[in-house]
Amino acid sequence: MKIKNNFSKKENIMKIFKKITFIGSGKIAESMIIGLINSKYPSDCIFVCSPDEKSRSAISERYLVKNFKENLIGSNIGEIIVLAVKPNIIPIVCEEIKNLTNIENKLIISVAAGININSIKKYLNNKKALIARAMPNTPVLVREGVIGLYAKKDIRTIHEKTIEQIFNRIGKIFWLSQEKEINYIISASSSATAYFFLMMDAMKNTAENIGINKSYSREVILQTAKGAIVLAEHFSEISFNTLKKHITSKKGTTEAALNSFKKNNFRKIVEISMKAAVSRAKEISIDVDKV
Ligand SMILES: NC(=O)c1ccc[n+]([C@@H]2O[C@H](COP(=O)([O-])OP(=O)(O)OC[C@H]3O[C@@H](n4cnc5c(N)ncnc54)[C@H](OP(=O)(O)O)[C@@H]3O)[C@@H](O)[C@H]2O)c1
Repeated sequence: MKIKNNFSKKENIMKIFKKITFIGSGKIAESMIIGLINSKYPSDCIFVCSPDEKSRSAISERYLVKNFKENLIGSNIGEIIVLAVKPNIIPIVCEEIKNLTNIENKLIISVAAGININSIKKYLNNKKALIARAMPNTPVLVREGVIGLYAKKDIRTIHEKTIEQIFNRIGKIFWLSQEKEINYIISASSSATAYFFLMMDAMKNTAENIGINKSYSREVILQTAKGAIVLAEHFSEISFNTLKKHITSKKGTTEAALNSFKKNNFRKIVEISMKAAVSRAKEISIDVDKV
């Protein structure tokens, strides 16, 4: 005899998958939503809130997620609330949601740069609020993101699995040991996707200038980048620098190019630029304890 399940299929899904409300419908919220949906996270467990009718409706229509104009109404539904607004909007959003009746049962994950956990608690006027920070990069859209995560010990003890279950679906997670490391992961990962695009763009343009046909220059650079990544993954025990040496023969073409990079201080340029991202992250940081 078939045993009847008390739950409908939909109820079972709702039990496994937490309801996630995104506050903000911009670039990173949309990238995360696409990644989650493509990982088969059910669209009826995802909600998006924004005053911007155009972007929230577009997300709603494209990915079949419910949208709300009012942050408070959308946040009421979510068991997890993702704050995905610009840092200067965080205080406004916190003011709007701080009176949620069961806010202390909700896990709040902020992806905003520069606003620390203590500040978010102060904006919410709630010391018991459960808050974690996540720093994703846009490749979460294709489920190949890097996500730096930070939460205080008490939150990690209880909610680590839940947080990991969400972010593991859209990339590789790295638990950071200190909150200030968020500023460093911004430089090494969130902003860094653009550094690779810059390098690829410069290489593509040069390739065309020296005579490679435009119809395949992009593919040539793209496949070269992909090959380098797969090779580095394959030889994961070998440092990037040694891998570089393996393909450099004495007086050969690679050596000529690498010598030119060296003469023009390529490593120094990378260092200065990455540190510039860290400085900017610190500049836009707000710590209400220090204001
Ligand atoms: N982009 C990235 O790669 C990335 C990576 C990691 C972390 N982050 C962080 O994620 C946050 C969002 O960045 P983003 O690039 O996605 O910015 P964005 O594209 O400008 O998105 C911000 C969204 O928030 C909406 N918004 C404005 N006021 C709001 C309010 N009161 N309530 C609800 N939504 C509101 C905006 O609507 P309007 O357009 O109408 O203003 C917009 O849809 C930032 O704090 C950033 O530090 C971004």
